Amino acid sequence: MRVGVPRETAAGERRVALVPELVAKLRKVSLDVDVQAGAGESAGFSDALYTTAGASIVPDAAANADIILKVQPPNAAEIDALKQGALVIGLLQPATNFAGLEALAKHGVTAFAMERMPRITRAQAMDALSAMSTVSGYKAVLLAANHLPRFFPLLMTAAGTITAARVCIVGAGVAGLQAIGTAKRLGAIVEAYDTRPAVREQVESLGGKFIDLGLEAESPEAKTGYATAQSEDFYHRQRAALAKWLSAADVVITTALVPGRKAPLLVTEEAVHGMKPGSVIVDLAAEQGGNCALCKPGEDAVENGVTILGPLNLPSALPFHASQMYARTVVSYLLHLWRDGAIQLDLADELTRGPLVTHQGKNLVEGSPA
Ligand code: NAI
Repeated sequence: MRVGVPRETAAGERRVALVPELVAKLRKVSLDVDVQAGAGESAGFSDALYTTAGASIVPDAAANADIILKVQPPNAAEIDALKQGALVIGLLQPATNFAGLEALAKHGVTAFAMERMPRITRAQAMDALSAMSTVSGYKAVLLAANHLPRFFPLLMTAAGTITAARVCIVGAGVAGLQAIGTAKRLGAIVEAYDTRPAVREQVESLGGKFIDLGLEAESPEAKTGYATAQSEDFYHRQRAALAKWLSAADVVITTALVPGRKAPLLVTEEAVHGMKPGSVIVDLAAEQGGNCALCKPGEDAVENGVTILGPLNLPSALPFHASQMYARTVVSYLLHLWRDGAIQLDLADELTRGPLVTHQGKNLVEGSPA
């Protein structure tokens, strides 16, 4: 069987779905690996590194492959070029990419969306979303530091004392916790809020202060571990209570998401006007519409001296390690599906069934057009 790794073609995508260090793992189980020429270049992995690792460099990695490893969903032309019955593993954006899933199903492709990996202990090594959130949380802090007209750390210098920056993190899941750790390492004073009370201990263990807004969210955590949606009244009270903390912050990083919904609005225009000129908001929820009312997804905005960044696809801005981490989750998953020299689809296994989005000509995602 042949694994193909095409060059990503989506605008701004610099990651690659397989890195040279993992080629040997696939070769060990008798999988041949074709990598499209230049596929790893923008992530820092040359063709020569793949060749040394045992892969073949080819002009077209998809046409002959039985298994295709992708970062972004394949576009219509890329789907047309796949072998009938091929298997695709990637970040296929199943919640929004209806047309793409339909085309994959129609083409007879068996496709797995890494976003749908169950968040269970057994699947931790295959958790691509957590890996990419780690990158986003780290990079968000660096973006903020780059735009902030002041230092992060407390400095005692001959030119006097410099006070530490205050960083406020709203939403302390995987990305938020990584942002806390990164901001602490840069020397900032870090405060964080999340609707899930379990997060308090995690924030404190990283040296952050948990913000108590005096609010009690209703059943804040679903069985899946994700946050639940709250009432508009709750969000109203949260926005009002949060404004005080935002006005004291130099940097605000928002990451708050509720699965399957538009990101909750937590930072109002009024709250932005209450912030200090020169302060910076990084809205990591931009892809889901943003937590800040003034966020323009994919753009940088300045309002009343406050910079509001709405970055899209931040993991692509750190392509070497984002590719390495993503590829490790993908290869772990492929090796989970690969038993005794063949792909074994055990549909009773939640690790197999969860990410499976197209199979035997059908789009299996609920809510997708039939
Ligand atoms: P996410 O990206 O869906 O959301 C980010 C954060 O926003 C979450 O912490 C959520 O509670 C928070 N949030 C939602 N609404 C909010 C609001 N109104 N105000 C403030 N914060 C709000 O979440 P992520 O980072 O993907 O993690 C979700 C959960 O999954 C966590 O409980 C995490 O511990 C768990 N998890 C479990 C794993 C495993 O067992 N293998 C692996 C990774 C995460």
